[in-house]
Amino acid sequence: MSELKQETRRPVVTLDGPAGSGKSTTAKEVARRLGFRHLDSGGLYRALTLALLEEGVPREEWPDLTEDGMRALPVHVASEGSEFVIEVGGRPMKSELRTPEVTANVAFLASLPASRACLLGLQRAAGEQGSLVADGRDMGSVVFPGAEVKVYLVADLTERARRRLKEGGGSDPADDEVEREAGVIAERDRQDSERELSPLRKPEDAHLIDTTRLDFVEQVKAIVALVEAQGTE
Ligand code: DC
Repeated sequence: MSELKQETRRPVVTLDGPAGSGKSTTAKEVARRLGFRHLDSGGLYRALTLALLEEGVPREEWPDLTEDGMRALPVHVASEGSEFVIEVGGRPMKSELRTPEVTANVAFLASLPASRACLLGLQRAAGEQGSLVADGRDMGSVVFPGAEVKVYLVADLTERARRRLKEGGGSDPADDEVEREAGVIAERDRQDSERELSPLRKPEDAHLIDTTRLDFVEQVKAIVALVEAQGTE
């Protein structure tokens, strides 16, 4: 029985949800626990945004870019072991993708049909072999509608703002800082949910997990258990 199971395709797991709900850190750890690869699709939209900013293309001209124009930007994704390394201009990216300037422009870039078309094939190719945990906004609804396990993570806005401010190990932020960050996140949620293409939505068949009061380890365990249960169904 277990030999048979090993021959079957290993699942694609999708984690969608609003900004700051803990998708990326959770997806990364779930992938590590399962021995799957992790795709941070928000990182891809951020990389296109950074490339456009670095190339000095004025924001008002972004809607004129075609899918091929987006594809011609110096953004590459290399598969290295269990990781996908995102490169912009030949440089591997990490914190550069999370600067306030990139964050302030990425929801606009992600609302453009050419950016979504440009990234669709690339994301699907990453899931072709299964064994993938993909996080974003439309992983379960559009990119991998047939994913074996779908999760939708939510958390209170204030809690999401606090987590964002504490990213990188900072101390407890003051209430007015939290309030300001909550405003920024709420605006991005609005743009991500109200856009015409691939808006942020919970797929009907996704498991809803509210992480507001969940311990990170418990949250990871719960998702790993869903994947393991799926394998025995
Ligand atoms: O998860 P994140 O904050 O890195 O996402 C950055 C932006 O990219 C966010 O505003 C929404 C957009 N995005 C998207 O539209 N679709 C995805 N699958 C992932 C991210």
